[in-house]
This record gives sequence, C-alpha cells and structure tokens, in this order.
Amino acid sequence: MTDSTTHLLFVDDEPALRSVTAERLAERGFEVAQADSGEQALELLEQFAFDVVVADLRMPGIDGMRVIEAARERYPGIVGIVITGYGTVKDAVDAIKRGAADFIAKPFQFDELMHVLRKALEQRRLTQENAYLRSQLEERYRFGGILGRSRPMQSLFQLLETVAASNSTVLIQGETGTGKEVVARAIHLNGPRRAQRFVALNCAAIPETLLEAELFGHVRGAFTGAVGSRQGRFEQAHKGTLFLDEVGTMSTGLQMKLLRALQEREFERVGDNQTIKVDVRVIGATNSDLAGMVRAGTFREDLYYRLNVISFELPPLRDRREDIPILVQHFLEKFATSGAVAAETDGRRQVSQLAMRQLMAYAWPGNVRQLENAIERAVALSVGRTLIDVTDLPHEMQSTQEQSAAPVTELPEQGLDLVGYLATIERDFITRSLDRTGGNRNKAAELLGLKRTTLVEKLKRMGSY
Ligand SMILES: Nc1ncnc2c1ncn2[C@@H]1O[C@H](COP(=O)(O)OP(=O)(O)OP(=O)(O)O)[C@@H](O)[C@H]1O
Ligand SMILES: [Mg+2]
Repeated sequence: MTDSTTHLLFVDDEPALRSVTAERLAERGFEVAQADSGEQALELLEQFAFDVVVADLRMPGIDGMRVIEAARERYPGIVGIVITGYGTVKDAVDAIKRGAADFIAKPFQFDELMHVLRKALEQRRLTQENAYLRSQLEERYRFGGILGRSRPMQSLFQLLETVAASNSTVLIQGETGTGKEVVARAIHLNGPRRAQRFVALNCAAIPETLLEAELFGHVRGAFTGAVGSRQGRFEQAHKGTLFLDEVGTMSTGLQMKLLRALQEREFERVGDNQTIKVDVRVIGATNSDLAGMVRAGTFREDLYYRLNVISFELPPLRDRREDIPILVQHFLEKFATSGAVAAETDGRRQVSQLAMRQLMAYAWPGNVRQLENAIERAVALSVGRTLIDVTDLPHEMQSTQEQSAAPVTELPEQGLDLVGYLATIERDFITRSLDRTGGNRNKAAELLGLKRTTLVEKLKRMGSY
C-alpha cells in the first residue's frame, strides 16, 4: 500500500445493512469494497491488500472469523473487526483471541462502528510507527549510547568519529542532562583506548580539600585521616581516559596543578615529592560558561586553552525536538524491561498521539534526563495498559500546546530560526486537522488546502507526529 486512503472490505450477507453501511463509510473517506459471503471476501482479499476487514461472524459457508484469519495470514498488519449477534459475548471474546482487533454487536449505530474503527486504526498506526522508530534506533541514528536524528546530533556524530580516534583533550559543554557523560563514554569506547579504563570524577561532588588527593592520590599521613597511601584518578586511568565532570568548580590553586598534569602528564601524590608519569586522555565537561569565567578571572585562561583543544557544545533538547520520538522509544524499551513487576503489556507500550504532541511541545529545561524521568514515571503509572496518555505525564507537560502554537508577530530581539518556527506551525496545523477529521488524511488535506499526497509527504517528514 503506498497511498494513505483506508481501504476497507465490508463482508455481510445482509444486503440492506451492507450497502447502507458501505455508503456511509465512503462518505467518511474510506475506500469501500463489499462482499456478500465469506467466499467472495476471500476472492477479493486475493486481489487486494485491504487495511481493514469488517466481517459478520455468522454467515452461511465461510464465516467472518475464518475470513479475518485468512486475511491476517496473508497481510499480518490488517485490522479485522467482527460483527457479532446481540448478546454473543463469548463469540466476541473468542474472535479477539483469534486475532480480531475488536468487535461490534448487531444491531449497531453507525457511530459505534466509526468509533471501533478509529480506535483500531490508531492502534495499528502506533504499532507501525513503533516498528519504524525501532528500526531507526538500530542504525544511523546512534553513536555508541547516544541517540539523535536531528541535524546537530548527526553532525556531532561525524565529529565524534574523528575525535574518538585522536588522543586530544576534549571539553564538552552543555546544559544539564544534555548527555555530556554519555558522549564522554562514547568517545572513550570508540577510540584506541577502549580496552582500558574509563575513570570518571565529578569535581563538584567532592569537597575542595579532598579533591586534590582524589585526583592525584596521597601518601600515608599526608593529611588527617590519610591512613594509607592511595592512587588518584589520574593513576587509575593510566592508558585509559579520565573524565573530569564539572571541571569548572575547581579552585584556582588546584587548577594550576591540573594544568601541569595536562601539560606534562606528570604530578606528585599529596604529601609526596616523587613525580609520577602517566598516559591519560582527559575529557572535561561543564555546564558553566568557562569562557565567561575566564573573563571574570575565576578560571585560568591557560587551563581553559589546554582543556579546549577540541570542544563542542551539546544542544539543548528544545533545539532538536526531532530527537524526541526516538528517545521516547528508547526509554520505553529501557523501562519496560527494567521494572520489578514486568506486566505483560510492558513490551507493547506506546505513547498516544496527544501525549507525544505534548512531549514535542514541552521546553525540557532538564533536557534528556528530564525526558528519561518522565518516561520512567509514565511507564510506572500505566502498568497494565498499552497506551501512555497525557495524564500519565508530569503535570507541567500536560498543557504546553498553546505555547507551541502561539504565533509570533514581532521578530524577537535575538532573532528567530525561521525554518524551525514554520515547521512547528505546520506540524501544529497538521495535527489539529488530523484530530478534527478523526485521522482521515483525505479530509485533513482538504481542510488545509493541500493535495493528499503533499500531506502524506509532510507526515513522513514529520516522522508521522
Ligand atoms: N542523546 C542521548 N541518547 C540517549 N540517552 C541520552 C542522550 N542524552 C542523554 N541521555 C541520557 O540522559 C541522561 C543524562 O545524560 P548525562 O548524564 O550524560 O547528562 P549530563 O549532560 O552529563 O548532565 P549533568 O550536567 O546534569 O551531569 C542519562 O541517563 C543518559 O543516558
Ligand atoms: Mg553529567
């Protein structure tokens, strides 16, 4: 199937019901074929890949259930809906066990049928998208543990390949939660030192008085409490990589010692005068503005240049929203399998269209870490359900819609990413039109004055959200 019209096969041996329903479905934009028996249905299914089969359960000859089974065998993604007689709950349950997506009991209102169809089609769309996102996770949209399909992340991956192969000192800047540590690990794991240690030290987490000993080690009696001698992180990382997180928090005295260690690859343990030489690659990270600190005189300029041999800034998540769907997919999988009580629904969990829209619109001050936490929470709240909805999201993410759609009329002081801005507006109107038409792409295209093929193209580019 290459076009986006929903092709539906309606199978019922009651001519009046069949033609009336078919006509009304056509009015709603479905492309409808009719069959008056199971036999005829199977013939039509041989010739054409329908998206949906709605079949009466009770028919002389081949019954509805067998039609749906045959259809699903041939087209595994097809949506099968059975029409049961009034009060035959057991049949309905049985049909669902045998692969029908849903059922509707006779006599039914047309709107009930529409409701069942919409629900089943939405579910199918999500499942297909899931498979699509999963396939993206596998290849080009990752570098080690870092995921990203946005342009800035794609160019970062290219840069990282070169950086990883070299031995240069690297400085990674970026807001909290943008992935500085995952990037540092990826550099180590993709470079020649991968078989050696990756040693991480968060300079902000250690009291200044102990930081020097932590970095360079100490000998017995070097300070109160130093009962034995101990290796520092530089020594531990010999031949490997040392990751200095929050490197901007060091005192100027210690900055000088670090500078020497970087320049000469040598240092002394605290309380000792024997010089130790090491071969260590250093990767620094910070979420403070080091250049600004240099200007303010709180960070040594010479150390800054030493660290800054290769440097890059990880963009905040709000500037690369295209990465959100694959990150969501990644975290869904991560938390689905990590729960203590893994429910049966876990592996199939998906995010509803509306919830995804909120996630795409939110500003993410805590970046990827905040997104990770939000998904972990949503997975926990939706135990036993396959669909994560807006109400499973943290409160502050439940009502961001307006903010994304609010039209800007003044050119902001700092300028504007026109292409990105227009894309946001476009995405917003497209989602709204699909919502209003219950997902009918023909009608949605009409509402927007677009050709259906143009709309479909745009949806593809949006990654379907
Ligand atoms: N691009 C990414 N792909 C997959 N996971 C990511 C990505 N970026 C960040 N993460 C995940 O988000 C979380 C936060 O990332 P990380 O600890 O690297 O951030 P950070 O920039 O070091 O933050 P902080 O400044 O607060 O220390 C981690 O669990 C990490 O695995
Ligand atoms: Mg960090």
